[in-house]
Formats: sequence, structure tokens, C-alpha cells
Amino acid sequence: MPTISASILAGNHANLAADVIELEQGGADWIHVDIMDGHYVNNLTFGPKTVEDLRKVTSLPIDVHLEMYRPELVIDSFISAGADMITIQFESCTHPIRTIEQVKARNCQVSMAFAPTTSFDQIGSLIRDVDQVNIMTVEPGFGGQPFRKDVLPKIKLASEIIASEKLHTIVAVDGGVNIQNIPDILRNGGHNLIIGTMLFVNDNIKENVEKTKGLFCMTKTTKEMI
Ligand code: DX5
Ligand code: ZN
Repeated sequence: MPTISASILAGNHANLAADVIELEQGGADWIHVDIMDGHYVNNLTFGPKTVEDLRKVTSLPIDVHLEMYRPELVIDSFISAGADMITIQFESCTHPIRTIEQVKARNCQVSMAFAPTTSFDQIGSLIRDVDQVNIMTVEPGFGGQPFRKDVLPKIKLASEIIASEKLHTIVAVDGGVNIQNIPDILRNGGHNLIIGTMLFVNDNIKENVEKTKGLFCMTKTTKEMI
């Protein structure tokens, strides 16, 4: 069954605890926290204290997505704050393998995110070293951007490698995910759907998560159709 990683970027930054509680009640599987530094991307968001405080209000695992330069400087703080997974942004990281090892040394799950224009070769070369590949379907930096359909072949290729080599790597899809494109994402092998805007489109956060989960049951993936 596919999973939902709820991105709080689109939530109410003055009341994140209430949003996270509702997301959990609706059946979200992960909480996704985007960390933006105002340098790699033109946006500023949260810090380790946000994760520390959210850790107290939810039992869901927290994925911290570092859309920033020098991720190695903050990884330990986020893990100490309670992150269950650290997502490193490939394009802003000088030493991907060294940084992956830094996360693993703390017994934390590690994920690598790839921007839409980064070639599949990079994903293919790291897919065996991480717990998750986050295949981004928008440019890093902002929620609410349109989904880039041209990234679907990369999702398919990643899931084919995982199936043929019997890897346990999760394929996450991040950016612009909504009711219209979910069937396409699932058919191409996307498994962990990172969703922001669509879950916060109105005040019924819990219901929005429930409806999305319902859609998963109705969508047949290629694997099930064969
Ligand atoms: C974009 C972030 C995404 C974003 C997804 O830089 O990495 O996680 O929050 O949000 P939506 O669903 O609004 O695209
Ligand atoms: Zn993200």
C-alpha cells in the first residue's frame, strides 16, 4: 500500500502542532519537514527546535528534507531533535556519499532528493546506498508548484531497478502531488507520496488525508495489473 508523507510547508506555521495532530488522525504515514536556508533556495522555513517540538505531539516518523547548502552542519542537530529520516538534497551537497555515511552513523534512515533536471544516472548511482530516493517533481524551494509530468519516466526507471535487484529502497515523489496525478504516479512505481498543498486546501485536513488514502485503494498499480 502506498504511503502519505504529509509536508507541513503548506500548513499553518503559527499552529503546526494542531495540523500535525490532524494529519496523524487522518492516517498520514510520515511528517515531511522542509528545511530551506534562503541561499540554495529563496525561502526560509524551520529549524531543529520545530522538529523537537513536533516530536512531542506525534508518534509518526519525521522526514527532514534539507534544501540547503552545507547540510552536514545541521544533520546531527536534526537527528538529536527527533528526525527519523534525513533527506539530503543531491544538488546542494558537496560530498553525497560522505553525508549519507554521516546520517547512517547515527542510526537514522537516509534519503537522497533529486531535482527534476538532474539526470537519472545520479539517482541510479546512489539508489543502493540509501533507504529512500526522493524524486522531485517540482523545483526545490516552494510548495504549490505544478507537478512536472516529464519526471514520471525517472520514477519508473528507479522502481524497475529496485524490483530487478530486489532492493528495499523506497521511491518517494515530492512536489505538486494531487488527486489528478496520483494514479499516474502509482502506475509508474511511486510509493511514498509527499503531499503539501492538497492536504491543506481547506480546513478539513483529516478528511483530505482520508480521501487520499481512499484513492490509493481504487488505483491499480502496474504490479497489480500484471
Ligand atoms: C518543495 C518541497 C516539497 C513541498 C511539497 O521544495 O520539497 O516537499 O512541500 O508541497 P506541495 O505538495 O505543495 O508541492
Ligand atoms: Zn520536501
